[in-house]
Amino acid sequence: MHSGRYPDTRLRRNRSTSSVRALVAEHHVKPADLLQPVFVIPEHDATTTIPNLSGITRMGINPLIDYVGTLQDLGIPGIFLFGNIPSCQRNAEGSEALNPEGIIPEAARVLRAHYPEMMLIADVALDCYTDHGHDGLILDGKIANDATIEVLCQQAQVLAEAGCDSVSPSDMMDGRIGCIRQHLDQRGLCDVRVISYACKYASVFYGPFRNAVGSNSSLLKGNKRTYQLSPTNSDEAMHEAGQDLDEGADMLIIKPGLAYLDILHRVKETFRKPTLSYQVSGEYAMLRHAAEAGILDWDQAILETLTCFKRAGADAIITYAAKEVAEQLQRT
Ligand code: PBG
Repeated sequence: MHSGRYPDTRLRRNRSTSSVRALVAEHHVKPADLLQPVFVIPEHDATTTIPNLSGITRMGINPLIDYVGTLQDLGIPGIFLFGNIPSCQRNAEGSEALNPEGIIPEAARVLRAHYPEMMLIADVALDCYTDHGHDGLILDGKIANDATIEVLCQQAQVLAEAGCDSVSPSDMMDGRIGCIRQHLDQRGLCDVRVISYACKYASVFYGPFRNAVGSNSSLLKGNKRTYQLSPTNSDEAMHEAGQDLDEGADMLIIKPGLAYLDILHRVKETFRKPTLSYQVSGEYAMLRHAAEAGILDWDQAILETLTCFKRAGADAIITYAAKEVAEQLQRT
């Protein structure tokens, strides 16, 4: 790298006007880089607010159809689907996750019929369906890896058959990517993508999401540290990413976002595969609250964070602000 010496070189020359700054900009956020998480509820016409996630609502299928249409018009390529199912449908096995008439398969069928090109990415994990709020089955007081995978394979199949073009395992069981890939292939679903939450950390920043899907109260007693990564570790995240690619993952997710840019950068540099960053609910909520308190400007703050994900190596960002930022980009 040649930086030259002052005063022969003055780096500020290339920062002096907005036009030259635009010319030398190395990284950009576009609507095509953004993926919007959505929360689905069973009441077809309803919209409900989510504590601590202002600006985001849970939606029944009818408002969701309009909302996804707006996202498509804005140039956003896809959505991540999460469900908030009634507590009476939750049980220890999370059996509602396998119901082909459940709210997520139903939403996928309807949205697929309306929007053939939209990426419909379904979360694969049991936490939205279990009464204990864990992502897997509990046997002898432990999260049972292999028994959980068998259920996740069936869940992935139900979602793929309903019209999801991608399934996204967020459960962090060992070996689930390969098993899900094989399970889908054996059933003629070889075109369905597996987008792996390869590097998912046991993070406190998932709090507002757990409110949104209703898994928080049950999980308050526990935590997910026996399956999600420890924030102390970086090499281990590389093993996770490498293993998931070997098992057939089409894309990798690093989660959370801002505090894990080092992991994002390392994974992208090493594997050069499509790599997504997830700006999680707690990060979004922190910025929202700060903006609502007048501490910082929302539009600038959110766009700056998304630009940083791109600079660190993200091909795309999953963010609750996807729609708003796409609207902002359209204005400017
Ligand atoms: C669970 C899942 C979680 C998120 C996405 N999928 C929560 C968890 O692991 O407890 C968190 C997303 C967010 O906080 O925005 N399978």
